[in-house]
Amino acid sequence: MLAFQELVGGLKMVRHFHVSAAVGTESSARIKKFLIYRWNPDQADQKPQLKEYSVDLNTCGPMVLDALIKIKSEIDSTLSFRRSCREGICGSCAMNIGGVNTLACISKIDTNLNKPTKIYPLPHMYVVKDLVPDMQNFFEQYRSIQPWLQRKQEREPGSQQYLQSVEDRQKLDGLYECILCACCTTSCPSYWWNGDKYLGPAVLMQAYRWIIDSRDEATEERLNKLRDPFSVFRCHSIMNCTRTCPKGLSPGAAIAEIRKLLSGISKKEEPKLKTATA
Ligand code: SF4
Ligand code: SF4
Ligand code: FES
Repeated sequence: MLAFQELVGGLKMVRHFHVSAAVGTESSARIKKFLIYRWNPDQADQKPQLKEYSVDLNTCGPMVLDALIKIKSEIDSTLSFRRSCREGICGSCAMNIGGVNTLACISKIDTNLNKPTKIYPLPHMYVVKDLVPDMQNFFEQYRSIQPWLQRKQEREPGSQQYLQSVEDRQKLDGLYECILCACCTTSCPSYWWNGDKYLGPAVLMQAYRWIIDSRDEATEERLNKLRDPFSVFRCHSIMNCTRTCPKGLSPGAAIAEIRKLLSGISKKEEPKLKTATA
């Protein structure tokens, strides 16, 4: 058994170790600078500016959203940004980080302390405040493609399911996973210049998702709505959209498929399975 004096001595050493560790942590703080776009509509006479914030990475989570939350809760509560899920599902934390449109919650902080990280709202959008873009036009365009299943004869809800073969279901892979974050659309030069008339990659990919669905019977109507010089044909296949998608999807490829359908190069296949049984 340890003598009392030995025990006290041991405890002192442990305490000393903890204190030294704490001092050591302080002295090796890893200060990372963030330059963040700020604009307040209530101070409309003031121009937008980049404001600098310093964050100790030792006391911050690894993602850019962690840094933003830390800045807002500990340094400057006036900073505005959107976020919800913190796991790349809701799409609300989309912003331009280090020159790339992406999701703040799944973007690791660049740990190079000599290089500040610049954060802007999604480009070429009206700004509501700071990092919050106005998504009104984007969601109006999404509404315009009628993103729901359409049948010539609707069944009573709950009376019957619409069937789909495994092969037909697979055609939706790479399309349905889109979280409508708008990273792709706001990286598209054609959308920057014609965002009022060109639907942009995210909305067009969702249009294609419903056009190609074997259970949907409004294919012709959907395609006819896109038959004009602007809705689809402003895409110049530069593929910025596909490069930037944080979910690894390819809206550029979906647009190419719509163009093939519109020009008659390809045709929607008949369902492999009888969709409705009665
Ligand atoms: S491929 Fe088309 S939609 Fe994608 S960025 Fe280029 S022009 Fe825009
Ligand atoms: S395709 Fe990708 S980048 Fe575009 S809205 Fe969907 S998830 Fe976001
Ligand atoms: S917080 Fe939901 S995607 Fe980032």
